[in-house]
Amino acid sequence: MRLNTAFLALALAITSVSAAVPHLDHAVHGVRSASGSLVDRLCGTIITPEKKAAAEKDFSLKRVLATAVAANNWPVYINVHFHVVAANTSIEGGYVPQSQVDSQIEILNKDYKNTGVQFRLDNTSRTINADWFENVNPYTSEATLMKETLRRGGPETLNVYTVSFDNGYAAGLLGYATFPSDYEDEPKDDGVVIQYGTLPSGNLYPYNLGRTLTHEVGHWVGLYHTFQGGCDPETGGDEVADTPAQAVPTRGCPTFRPDTCPEQPGFDPIHNYMDYSDDVCMRGFTPGQAARFRDQIRTYRGINV
Ligand SMILES: *[C@@H]1O[C@H](CO)[C@@H](O)[C@H](O)[C@H]1NC(C)=O
Ligand SMILES: *[C@@H]1O[C@H](CO)[C@@H](O)[C@H](O)[C@H]1NC(C)=O
Ligand SMILES: [Zn+2]
Repeated sequence: MRLNTAFLALALAITSVSAAVPHLDHAVHGVRSASGSLVDRLCGTIITPEKKAAAEKDFSLKRVLATAVAANNWPVYINVHFHVVAANTSIEGGYVPQSQVDSQIEILNKDYKNTGVQFRLDNTSRTINADWFENVNPYTSEATLMKETLRRGGPETLNVYTVSFDNGYAAGLLGYATFPSDYEDEPKDDGVVIQYGTLPSGNLYPYNLGRTLTHEVGHWVGLYHTFQGGCDPETGGDEVADTPAQAVPTRGCPTFRPDTCPEQPGFDPIHNYMDYSDDVCMRGFTPGQAARFRDQIRTYRGINV
């Protein structure tokens, strides 16, 4: 699988490039404190510079420009299939109530307001499978089997899975996603997997306001992390002109905006959905990010935005 291979390749390189990818450290050691509470955001959507360069070359060749601004038919609705995977029918077992699923979709729509894209919950499936619940992460056969069993729709349909990420290499993960350009090679892998406690009113404070799904869907529509490529302009960073370069992911919610790339213009975009700040700290996408993702989903997902 392309995503898994990329994730693994970068993780194995951690000893030599750990300064550039500090968050991967947490992927190795997990991010839960001894008491079990989460101490740092961790997203599993990692892309190597090589894979990113290939994806961007492909995008520049195939790019179809979004047109809806002219057509004036915003918002375009993306159908969502939400898959609750649980160990048993208790909330600790991941069996989140429909009210939490519904309020998660509401948060998603609030966060994507004015981007041209909104989301409509098509169906919620519920599956009791303790193995999937505990062991799904970007490396496992459980993830493959879960998605092959539950996934619905084509490239235009968003499939969201909630699990616990309790075990394995990526224990402590908040979520991970596939990119639009991954769909062609790995259609069944397409979608977003998140920790069930990240839903609004979930138990994963300070990541329980629903912003993990906002962030992971950001990848699903074609955005990179704001700290992608660090300070080096040669890398193309996150391929968005109006998000300042950033050396490292943000932790918590700093009172003063740091400037981790002093040679580049702008302070770190700590309030951006594609950084790693606490949920309460996240406030929006930039116009450049929305413009990029509209082109991404028109090009690779056939969404007529
Ligand atoms: C449900 O699953 C969770 C997570 O594995 C476990 O902590 C809890 O004890 C289980 N509850 C019941 C009633 O089996
Ligand atoms: C909707 O979810 C139910 C389970 O709750 C499932 O049986 C059904 O197949 C799903 N429908 C679609 C269209 O995916
Ligand atoms: Zn991410």
